[in-house]
Amino acid sequence: MATDGTLASITRYPLKGLPGVSTDSATIVAGEGLAHDRVLAIETGDHEPRAGGGWRPRAVFHHLAKNPELVRFSTRLDPAPEHGERAMRLTVGNPEGETTSILLPSADHGDEAPAPHLEAANSVIGDWFAPGARGGAAVTAPAVRIWDWPEALISLINLESLADLAAQTGRTIDPRRFRANLLVSGLPAWSEFSLVGRVVTLGDVAFEVFQPTDRCRATTVDPATGLVDLNVPAVLAARLGHMFCGVYLRPITGGTITTGATLRLRDEAARVAVVPDPSWPRPATVTARSTETSLASSFWIDDPAGLLPRAIAGQHVRVHLPQLGAPNWRNYTISGVDRDRVRITVKRSADVSVHLHENLRPGDRMLVSGPFGRVQFDPLDQTPVLLLSAGIGITPTLAALRALQLAGSRIPVEVLHVERSTGEVAHLDELLALVAALPSATLTLNLTRPDAPAATSPNLDDAVAAGRVRLRPGRPRDEQISASVARASGSSAGTSAGELRALVCGPAVFLEQAVDALEGAGMARSRIHFDVFYTPTLPDPEPEPKSPPEPGPFTVSFPATGDSAVWTAESGSLLDLAEAAGQDWPSACRSGACGTCENVLRSGTIAYLTEPVIQPSDGRILTCCAVPTGDVVVGEAVSEPTPQGAIA
Ligand code: FES
Repeated sequence: MATDGTLASITRYPLKGLPGVSTDSATIVAGEGLAHDRVLAIETGDHEPRAGGGWRPRAVFHHLAKNPELVRFSTRLDPAPEHGERAMRLTVGNPEGETTSILLPSADHGDEAPAPHLEAANSVIGDWFAPGARGGAAVTAPAVRIWDWPEALISLINLESLADLAAQTGRTIDPRRFRANLLVSGLPAWSEFSLVGRVVTLGDVAFEVFQPTDRCRATTVDPATGLVDLNVPAVLAARLGHMFCGVYLRPITGGTITTGATLRLRDEAARVAVVPDPSWPRPATVTARSTETSLASSFWIDDPAGLLPRAIAGQHVRVHLPQLGAPNWRNYTISGVDRDRVRITVKRSADVSVHLHENLRPGDRMLVSGPFGRVQFDPLDQTPVLLLSAGIGITPTLAALRALQLAGSRIPVEVLHVERSTGEVAHLDELLALVAALPSATLTLNLTRPDAPAATSPNLDDAVAAGRVRLRPGRPRDEQISASVARASGSSAGTSAGELRALVCGPAVFLEQAVDALEGAGMARSRIHFDVFYTPTLPDPEPEPKSPPEPGPFTVSFPATGDSAVWTAESGSLLDLAEAAGQDWPSACRSGACGTCENVLRSGTIAYLTEPVIQPSDGRILTCCAVPTGDVVVGEAVSEPTPQGAIA
C-alpha cells in the first residue's frame, strides 16, 4: 500500500436501520463483527415469524431503503455494569422524542448469548410503526447478526473515495449514508480495492480484507434529512462503471482498536484466499504493450483474481480509471489469452482510450473488472459460423477463431472483416494464421480505402494466392453477406440458413446493417450474437421523485409459479410486489444500476420510476425500478420465444 491510512471513526448499529453509535475504541474478537453491531432489528409484521433465530433478509425488517423515516430515530449505548462487564443499555428514541431502552447482556451474540430484554421495549416500539399484514412491528434479537448478508462482519469506508465521489458529483456526501463500521482517512481514493485479498493491521489487530462492498438503495437516503436525494448505486455505475464503495474486513486476531490507529498492510507479499466475483474492481498490472496499427495498440494485463484468463471467447474486460473525469470506464473485448494474462486491443479515439495510449506502460497498474458479456462463443458447437466484424471489432473474431483452433474444430467458418486498408487491420498476421489453421475457414477482407497503404505481409499474398483470403473493395453489400450465408449453409449438408450462427462486432451502423442482412438471408435472429458497446453517459445524480403513472389495481402474473398478485401504487416496484408474493427474484442495487433484477416482460406495459443506467435488451425489464401500467405477465424465461411486452 503506497500510503497508510488513519482510523477516523468506529460506529456500531445496534438496531438495524437506525442511526449508529460511535465510540473511540472497540474490542475486537477474531472472526466476529463489532460488539453490539446489528444485534437487533424491527420486524415489520408483514412476514411469518421464523423459529430458530437464523439470518433473515432485510425485507423482513424495517430498513432505510424501505423506510427512510428511520434516520429521524435516535440510539444511544451506555454501559450497564450491574448486568455484566460488557453489558450495555440501548436507548432508542422516536422522532416525537419518546424513548425506551433495551438491555444488551454481556455475551451479546453467539449460541450461548442470553437474549436481550425486549418485552418492555416492544410494548412501546410496537406503537411507533404501523402494523404489518400479519402483526405489529416488534424488535427481534436473532442468534446471528442482522447484516445485509450473513458474513458481512466489519465494513470500512475510505473517506478519500467519498471525497472523490463528492467532487465528481458536485454534492456533499455524508459518510453516514454508507453505514460503515470504520471510516479511514489518508488512503488514496479507491485504493481500498487493492487491499482485497490482503492482510491489514489497525494498531495491533490484524484483519483479512475479503471483498469490496457493493452499494444498494439504502445509500440513496440522506442520513440527515431522510430524503431520497442521490441515487448512489446509479452514480457509481454510470461514473465509475461499478457499484462498489468500501471493503469488508474479517478480524484474524483479537485486541483493541482505537481511533487514530494506523491502517497498513501487514505483509506486502502475503495473500489470503478470497472467492472473487467478476464484478469486483481490482488492480491489474500491464505486463506488455505493442503497437498494432497507426490507431490501435495492445496491452497485456494480468489479473490478481485470475478470472480474466478464464473468459469465454467474445467476453470483455472493463477498465476503470478513476483518476480521469467521469465517465471513466470502457469495455474492451479480450483479443488474446496467454496463460495467466489477457490482451486488449484499443483503438485510440477519446478520453479513456487516449489515456491508455499515452500513459500506460508495462509495470503500470489499473483497475479492471470482468469478464462480462452476453456473447459467449461456443467452439464445440458443430454448426457452421459466420464471423462479421469491422474496424476494432476484429477482437471477438480473433477470440472466436482462437477458441475454434484450440478446440481442433473443423467446422466451416466464413470470416468477413471490413477495414480501410490491409495496412490498418489489427493483428493481420495473427488473423491469417488462425484462418490457415482451421481447415474449413475462409476470410474476406472488404477494404473501404484500398488505395491507402497496404500491409507488407507475405502471409497475406500467400493466402490470397491459395484462395483462403479474398480482397474486395468497398463495404459489403447485402448480397455479399447473403452469399456468405449461402456458402456457409451449403458447406454443411443438411444445415439450413436458419440453423447457422453468427458473431457480429463493429460500429453501430455496421452492426445494424449486418444483422439485417443476415436475417434477410434467412438466419434466425436468436442465432446472431453481438454485444452492444456504448459510451457511458452520466445521469442526473438527483433522482426525480417520480410517481407511478397509473394507480392500478393491476394483476401481475408470475408464470414460473403460476401465481399472481395485485399491484397498487402502494405496492412499490414489481420486484417489491414479487418478493411480498413469495417470488424468489434476484436483486442487488435496487436502483436500476446493476441489471441483476432483469426479467422477461411477457405481456403488458411498464414504466420506470428510476431510469435504468443500462437499458435491458428488448422484451426485458429491470423489475427493481419498474411499475406496471396495466395487467402484466413477468417471469424469467431466457429461452422463451420473443415476448410481446413494451416499455412505456
Ligand atoms: S437490482 Fe440492480 S438494476 Fe435492479
